Amino acid sequence: MLKFMLPSLLIVCFTLQASLTQAAVPQADSFGKTKNGTPVDIFTLQNDHGMKVRVMTRGATITNIHVPDKDGTVADVVLGFDDVEGYESEGNQYFGCTAGRVANRIAEGKFTLNNRTYQLAINNEPNHLHGGVERSLDKVVWSAKAFDSKEDQGVVMHYVSPHGEEGYPGTLSCTVKFTLSKISNELEIDYLATTDQATPINLTNHSYFNLAGEGSETVLDHELTLHCDNYTPVDETLIPTGKFAEVKETPIDFRTPHIIGERVKKYDDAATIGYDHNLVINGEAGKLRPAAILKDPSSGRTLTVSTDQPGVQFYSGNFLEGQKGKGGKAYPHRSAICLETQFFPDSINQPNFPSTVLEPGNKYTHQCVLSFAN
Ligand code: GLA
Repeated sequence: MLKFMLPSLLIVCFTLQASLTQAAVPQADSFGKTKNGTPVDIFTLQNDHGMKVRVMTRGATITNIHVPDKDGTVADVVLGFDDVEGYESEGNQYFGCTAGRVANRIAEGKFTLNNRTYQLAINNEPNHLHGGVERSLDKVVWSAKAFDSKEDQGVVMHYVSPHGEEGYPGTLSCTVKFTLSKISNELEIDYLATTDQATPINLTNHSYFNLAGEGSETVLDHELTLHCDNYTPVDETLIPTGKFAEVKETPIDFRTPHIIGERVKKYDDAATIGYDHNLVINGEAGKLRPAAILKDPSSGRTLTVSTDQPGVQFYSGNFLEGQKGKGGKAYPHRSAICLETQFFPDSINQPNFPSTVLEPGNKYTHQCVLSFAN
């Protein structure tokens, strides 16, 4: 009898194991369609430590990051919307997206490369911001493939930007991999890009964090540490002057922890209208090192941002204006901050800054790790 049962038992076991493995790979769920009718998928990554991350294919965008506080209460700590329509609305100020091809500003949208001058869209008078208008990387729909392993699970997003898209030279092939650890509450973002013509590149994730939970009134009560001794001062239009300055004895000195609200008002009348500074991360670019630690004293939630990039743009949500986000919650002025790891702004026009030019045959890579604790 056993002789006959054994093969079918084995089949049952194998099928069960196969379906278990299958079930662990995050599935693509529909998140709706863009106004042009392109379907948008969303993936949910989850671990056993209370962390859940959702990423959608429009703009390779992080829509949700749920993390526990000191009492185990879980909250979503990033701003966003409940549907594609929200992300396509005026109220979307790059929430959670992958910004590029060149995140941050390019002076007057102009640069010269290999004796050719390129003119990009001016979408942040008088400059170019975050890759352009219609076809910047945050607005296009990426393809996606999820994965699962013993230590982590994630999704790899891919997009090929044709030569000339948004005025940039070269066919740019971009991959962004989002990996949630099963061991700790850590989300890693890895970028990879190649080109067939020399082209500037600077990708970043533009998540807005409020560790008390998105929709909380303010982020000014959070405590911030920046492992940055220097920053790049800017002109009236937020383009770097090309000089480096010490943070020492300025309101942007976060070398020791400070509450964000303590000194932000000192920049109320500056061109940045609050914190909107690119800081030079201490240590060697190209190596993963901590750049910033953000802590919400009331919930105990802490975020450490580590990267191999030269800089981090610390933006204190100065342009948030009370737009309605997830669950109809309002996102007022300075109710979230961005910590965008990247090259320095306007690097393509700044001979003093590390080069953002990607040559054919080379690889652009960028690693960013968001580690949550409570
Ligand atoms: C970046 C810029 C800010 C602002 C936001 C988007 O962080 O530095 O000035 O444009 O993006 O609103």
